[in-house]
Amino acid sequence: MRGKLIVFEGLDRAGKSTQCERLVESLRSEGHRVRHMRFPDRSTPIGQMINDYLKGQSEQEDHVIHLLFSANRWEAATSIRADIEAGTTIVIDRYYYSGCVYSAAKNNPILNLEWARHPEEGLPRPDICIFLDISPADAAKRGGFGGEKYENQQMQDRVRQLFSQLQSSSEKDDFATIDAGGSLDEVQLNVLQVAWRAIERVDAEGLPLRFV
Ligand code: TMP
Ligand code: MG
Repeated sequence: MRGKLIVFEGLDRAGKSTQCERLVESLRSEGHRVRHMRFPDRSTPIGQMINDYLKGQSEQEDHVIHLLFSANRWEAATSIRADIEAGTTIVIDRYYYSGCVYSAAKNNPILNLEWARHPEEGLPRPDICIFLDISPADAAKRGGFGGEKYENQQMQDRVRQLFSQLQSSSEKDDFATIDAGGSLDEVQLNVLQVAWRAIERVDAEGLPLRFV
């Protein structure tokens, strides 16, 4: 049986990293082979350019940084596909949905959601994207913003709006939205149920890996 592609998305402070780790642990303890990834992957040369940009140490034109984020996924695409075909499930903290909404949130006149999606076409498509939904009020309770580029209220409000636009687009069936306002354990339980359902569906129906 092939591995599955499970992605977490959501705003900063929604709890993606924690829930991602917990899901990876749960699946491993059930005997699944699991690879845990995150984008941006700051360990590659392209990832280091992205890191410098996010930390305010370099400037990049909007389209350029968008394409670097996309290239950072493409440089991993072959190995993602190979692992899935070899039976390893991949759990990723952020993927091309973040790529589209964060760039489109800048209100650049050319770089809208449609433009943003083009360079992502052909990437392995998630079997499920678990969207951890947090209200701006709950997010604020989790503490202040960090110092990175997009961690400000104006960007977060636009990102939130664009994520909901994406979830009512042709991509809507890729998403399972989970209320991330509950306790870690409550959220984890919901995440596990969604993940199991997605895994069982792929196996029961013999669904092939699809591409964006
Ligand atoms: P991180 O906080 O998950 O490390 O992500 C860093 C920031 O990069 C976050 O604000 C979201 C943003 N981002 C993009 O703008 N485009 C992308 O393709 C990805 C994966 C993240
Ligand atoms: Mg962050």
